[in-house]
Amino acid sequence: MAEFEKANSIGEWFDQRLNTSGFWRVMMTEYWIPKNINFLWAMGALLAMLFTLLLVTGIFLLMYYKPDVNMAFDSVNYTIMQEVAYGWIFRNIHGVGASVVFLVIYIHMFTGIYYGSYKKGREMIWLSGMLLFVLFSAEGFSGYMLPWGQMSYWAAYVITEIFGGIPFIGDELVIWIRGNFYVADATLTRFFMLHVLLIPLAILGAIVFHFYTLRFPHVNNEEGEFFDYKEESEKYLAGNQKESKVIAFWPDFLSKDFMVISIFMIFFFYLVFYHNAFAMDPVNFDKADGLKTPAHIYPEWYFLWSYEVLRGFFFDIAGISGKSLGLIAFGFAQIIFVLLPWLDKSPMVKPANQRPVFKYWFWILMADLFVLTIFGKLPPTGINAWVGFYASISFIVLFLALPYLTKLEAKMVGGK
Ligand code: HEM
Repeated sequence: MAEFEKANSIGEWFDQRLNTSGFWRVMMTEYWIPKNINFLWAMGALLAMLFTLLLVTGIFLLMYYKPDVNMAFDSVNYTIMQEVAYGWIFRNIHGVGASVVFLVIYIHMFTGIYYGSYKKGREMIWLSGMLLFVLFSAEGFSGYMLPWGQMSYWAAYVITEIFGGIPFIGDELVIWIRGNFYVADATLTRFFMLHVLLIPLAILGAIVFHFYTLRFPHVNNEEGEFFDYKEESEKYLAGNQKESKVIAFWPDFLSKDFMVISIFMIFFFYLVFYHNAFAMDPVNFDKADGLKTPAHIYPEWYFLWSYEVLRGFFFDIAGISGKSLGLIAFGFAQIIFVLLPWLDKSPMVKPANQRPVFKYWFWILMADLFVLTIFGKLPPTGINAWVGFYASISFIVLFLALPYLTKLEAKMVGGK
C-alpha cells in the first residue's frame, strides 16, 4: 500500500490517494453510491456487522456449550451465565443480537419494498435477500433450541410437526428431521450442527452473493432515479462533487454507514446491559420436559406473524379442515414475499408515498403484519381467534390483489 505524506486538508488527503494506482484508488474510483439515500440504506452494512458480532460471540459460547440433552440447559444457564468469567456478556450479546438482527432485517426488507428496490433489474438482489431471510430464520430457529429449555423443546416440537402436513411423505419426514419419533437428543445434536456450521457457512456464501448482485444495478435511491454512473462519477473525479449525483463508496458512503452503526450500537449495548430479558422467554428458564406442555406455545416475536397465519384458520371451510387450511396459508406466507418483483406489475420505481395505489397497499400490509404479530402471542381463544382469522385472510387478499392494484396504478399514472 502506498505511503502518504501528512495531508493538510480533506481535499489534499483525497488527491494524494487518487494519484496512486493502489487499493485506495480502486476503492475511491470503482465503487459509486447515489447521493440521495438516507440512513435506511445503512441497514445492509448494519446487518453485516450484526452477523459478524453473532459469529464472534457464538464462537465464544461454543467453548462451553454442550450439545447433549442432559447437559445443554446447565451448560448455558449455569456454566456460561454464572461460572465462566464474562460468559453472561457473550450470551446476552448473542441473545439480544439474534432478536435485534430480525428487526433490522425487517427494516431493510420493508425499505426495499417501500422504495421499489426489488424492481427493474434488481430482482436478483431481492431473491438473494430472501434467501438470506430464509437462512436467518433457520439459524434463529435452530439456535433457539440449543438452551434446551421448555420453549426450545416445544417450539421445536410444533415447528417440526408442521412438516407432517405435507401429503404422503409428511409423517416419515417428521421422523427423519427429528432423527427419532419425538424431539430428542438426536434432534438437538443435528440442530446444533446446523446452527454452528452449515447454516452460518450458507449465510456467508449468500451474503457474498447478495453483495455481488448489487454490483451492477447499484443500490436504488430515495427518488428511484436512474442515471449514468459513469458520467456522474467522472464529474465527481473532475472535482464537481456538488453537481455529481454520486459519492465514492469509500470513504464517503462507508463513513455514513459507520455513523449509523455507531448510533445503533449505543442502543444495542443499552439493551444488552439493561434490558436483555426481552430477548429471552421466561418459560425457557425451565428445563425441557417432554411430559409437561406449557400453557401457551409461541415462537420468538419475529415469527409471530406467520405463526398467526398458521393458527388463523381454526375451523373447517368447504369440507377442508382448519388444520390443512392453516398449513396452506402458512406455505403461502412463506413464499409470497419472494414473488414480489413479479406480483408488482407497475414498472414505476418510486417511493411508496409517490405511488397513488401502492401507498395504501404498503401501509395496510404494515398494519396487518403488526396485528398478526400482536395476536400471534395471545392465546387463540374467543375474539382473539377471530381477529387472527380476519388478519390472516387480509394478508392473503392483499397479496392476491397486488397484481391488479399495480396494473390499475400503472394505468392511472400513464394516463396523467
Ligand atoms: C441478512 C443479511 C443481509 C445483509 C448483510 C444485507 C446487506 C445489504 C447491503 C450491504 C446492501 C446495500 C446497502 C443497503 O441498501 O442497505 C443491501 C441492499 C439490498 N438488500 Fe440486503 N442484506 C441482507 C438481507 C436482505 C434481505 C432479507 C432482503 C429482502 C429480501 C434484502 C434485500 C435487499 C435489497 C432489495 C437491496 C437493494 C436496496 C436498494 O437498491 O436500495 N437484503 N443489502
